Amino acid sequence: MGALPVFSPIRSIAGVALCALALSGCGSSLGQSGGGKSGGDVKIGLLVPLSGVYAPLGQDMRNGFQLYLDQHGGKLGGRTVKVVTADEGEGPQTGVPAAQKLVTQDQVTTVVGVVNSATALGLRDFFDEAKKPLIIANAGADAITGARKSRYIWRTSFSNGKVSGALGPTVAKEVKGRVYLIAPDYAAGKEMVAGFRKTFEAAGGKVAGEKYTPFGTTQDFQPYLSAIRGSGAKAVYTFYSGAEAVNFVKQYKQFGLTGKVPLYGPGFLTEGGVLAAQGQAAVGVKTSLHYSTELDNPRNKEFVDAYRKKTAKPPTVFAVQAYDAAAVLDKALASGTGGDELVKALGGVGTIDSPRGQWTFDGDHNVQQKYYLREVKANGGTYVNAIIGDLG
Ligand code: BEZ
Repeated sequence: MGALPVFSPIRSIAGVALCALALSGCGSSLGQSGGGKSGGDVKIGLLVPLSGVYAPLGQDMRNGFQLYLDQHGGKLGGRTVKVVTADEGEGPQTGVPAAQKLVTQDQVTTVVGVVNSATALGLRDFFDEAKKPLIIANAGADAITGARKSRYIWRTSFSNGKVSGALGPTVAKEVKGRVYLIAPDYAAGKEMVAGFRKTFEAAGGKVAGEKYTPFGTTQDFQPYLSAIRGSGAKAVYTFYSGAEAVNFVKQYKQFGLTGKVPLYGPGFLTEGGVLAAQGQAAVGVKTSLHYSTELDNPRNKEFVDAYRKKTAKPPTVFAVQAYDAAAVLDKALASGTGGDELVKALGGVGTIDSPRGQWTFDGDHNVQQKYYLREVKANGGTYVNAIIGDLG
């Protein structure tokens, strides 16, 4: 799949769905079975990938959101929550109609989730025009909290430019020679590379080559690894996540590059189930991220224990971002469930006491947070992203 900006078929689907919304006469009171300042029920749409390369990320987000609900008696803002889950799939072709169904047919009060940047860009106008709050709990598309920000869209995760740009100066300092850049060919891949390149070159780094691989269909990375070797690069910067991250890192080792050409990337490259599947092949990979299970704070320790108890797995950044989306709604839904009421309340939620550390929304509805330098280390038969530095 290529880079997917907001394209016309989706705009026209959005138009039809908005007409349906208007005809239903529901306006801003959709999904407001309880309404008012407190009490009653609230329906929340959870839009995450249940299929495709990012399905494991979707499962982590479901677990994180559900854990918060379990810990709070199934209520947010004093209202009993009914979660309606929909499959985002691999991008906007599936994610946009699924979101529209949540709003127009299921009549949810708000939608939480969205993993893929291209889905987020495809949904932007629909939520803005429907005046329906969307809480993005992963997708990092820069424009969503930048040039195309909306009063109705908030993000509890990161933006691609920030999480990737955090690592540029470190790589420029550590690597003596040129660095090869490689990522999947869609919005997030392009933005992760651009964000890294900007701060890397500003710090004196030089690029050996840049390549984009077909998203969602590339399983054999050998031709690309061959090009990396042929370029004479002294290190590689890459963004992959989910199944693609497992294949890339394992094949990097099989191709003989591990230990010779250091591998860097945003932390999605080595998160959770992906890291378990990569195993020894990931040792030494250095990443930037706003979370690790290894963060040494009491809130995180308590969260890691509770998550392990519920799922028998360590948590991931995806679980934390969805857990925090629930925490944000817990505060905001106390004020009301109408679209405008809710976005006003979102502006006043203040500090979120998260397992990643305390954070607040900035003026563009994005998270203001710290980024860490992590390195994969073996730890008694398992693998962890050890925190080895602070990236500000
Ligand atoms: C994205 O498309 O924005 C994205 C997907 C997976 C991990 C991180 C970002």
